[in-house]
Amino acid sequence: MTARRILVASNRGPVSYVAGDDGALVPKRGAGGLVTALSGAVQTTGGLWVASAMSAADREMAASTPTGRLDPVVDEAKYALRLIAEDPQTYDRFYNGISNHMLWFLHHALWNLPYAPTLDSGTRDDWEAYRRVNGRFAEALAEEIDRNPADVLVQDYHLSLVPAALRARAAHARIAYFHHIPFAGSVELSLLPGWIRRDLLTGLLGADLVGFQAARWAENFLTACRSLEDAQVDTRRRQVRWEDRIVQVGVYPITVETDSLLETADSPAVAARTTDLERWLGGRRLLLRVDRTEPSKNILRGFQAYEEFLRRYPGWRRKVCFLALLNPSRQSLPEYRRYTDACREAAEAINAAFGEPDWRPVELRINDDFDEVVAAYGLYDVLLVNPVLDGMNLVAKEGPLLNRRDGVLLLSRTAGAFAELGRQALALDPLDVTATADAINAALRMPAGERARRAGGLRRAAGAGSPADWVARQMADLDRAATREE
Ligand code: G6P
Repeated sequence: MTARRILVASNRGPVSYVAGDDGALVPKRGAGGLVTALSGAVQTTGGLWVASAMSAADREMAASTPTGRLDPVVDEAKYALRLIAEDPQTYDRFYNGISNHMLWFLHHALWNLPYAPTLDSGTRDDWEAYRRVNGRFAEALAEEIDRNPADVLVQDYHLSLVPAALRARAAHARIAYFHHIPFAGSVELSLLPGWIRRDLLTGLLGADLVGFQAARWAENFLTACRSLEDAQVDTRRRQVRWEDRIVQVGVYPITVETDSLLETADSPAVAARTTDLERWLGGRRLLLRVDRTEPSKNILRGFQAYEEFLRRYPGWRRKVCFLALLNPSRQSLPEYRRYTDACREAAEAINAAFGEPDWRPVELRINDDFDEVVAAYGLYDVLLVNPVLDGMNLVAKEGPLLNRRDGVLLLSRTAGAFAELGRQALALDPLDVTATADAINAALRMPAGERARRAGGLRRAAGAGSPADWVARQMADLDRAATREE
């Protein structure tokens, strides 16, 4: 593996700033194994993480230095950070208008086509803002490379235009881009006007290596590249010849950080939550879902399936509880607020229709309490992971790693995680609520031997590799791809 200096670029950085008790701004680290792995790679190679200033506090900190360069220390770990501060209106157009609204909905096939989206002059302003912010990232990265050569790892759909914008400023830059979410199919892409579609595809083709979570997203991207007249696509080698360069496409399924999850599971806070949950459950079987309040997660059809399950299999009434732990997400978008309200209403309707004095069929908790999530992972009998589309889905990996009851995983075929876990899970077609109801019943009735066998297989598959391996594999492939070009 190369020990070259690594620059990471992402919209959300590893650290954000919040006001402490005395009003002074203090750094706070983002959660998750990916932050650990990428910031580890940045620190050990003497690199830097370029990210957006997402809040007023971030902008204030960015303005305190000439280039937005900061070196926060959180829990004894040092972060080398460069924050890009944009005016709030431009940032809102970039983040909410394009990234969260247009691109997220495009890649997750969430459009409600008779009504949305409508692309008007506001969309053109949003797109200009998206280009501008991507351009600012490219400029900052080019400056950093100029000062000291480095490999660049660009993260996710917020920064789709960065690879080409950086290549225009630094022809020999070594650039890997990773797309964490699904990649749109050809129907959705064909509905985009050419001025957006071409920008998006050629933006990504500025990279030497374009990575995806699962083969199906890589294939969608390669198919999309065929729509560019001047690109030559070799599907078998997963390569695109573009502007006299070869762009390598790769598949790198992201993994969870098993050790730190197990450590959390052993903590007193999780033990206390476990006791509370066991008391609440009162010996009933537990159907669990853990998600952000996110339309692509298919939470509503999950409730519909549970309702159908209670109707079709009345023998399970009073013997099962459905715990839905939802983390509030993107409440500044009206679609998300409406969806969250609809989830609350669906849960209440089931409780009103089926509840009894000593049994509430659904317990919906909308908050951000990871200790409670980890406690619930330990206890479920059935874990429902039924997204419409999902790049990977880490709940499907975290749950089986921590579960202590040989719980059964119900998993959408359309989640990236299905490629690794599908054989040991019960497969779901996410739109089919009747089949999902049957699958809940099948999972609850599964004989102990089969549950144990599947749970063991899931633990092995979900625990394979680490976020650090995930970074290392991409660095090795970037090295190969970039060296071939030199
Ligand atoms: C999900 C996706 C990531 C994405 C993130 C953005 O977690 O899996 O790929 O980067 O959302 O969320 P944010 O809160 O930063 O808008």
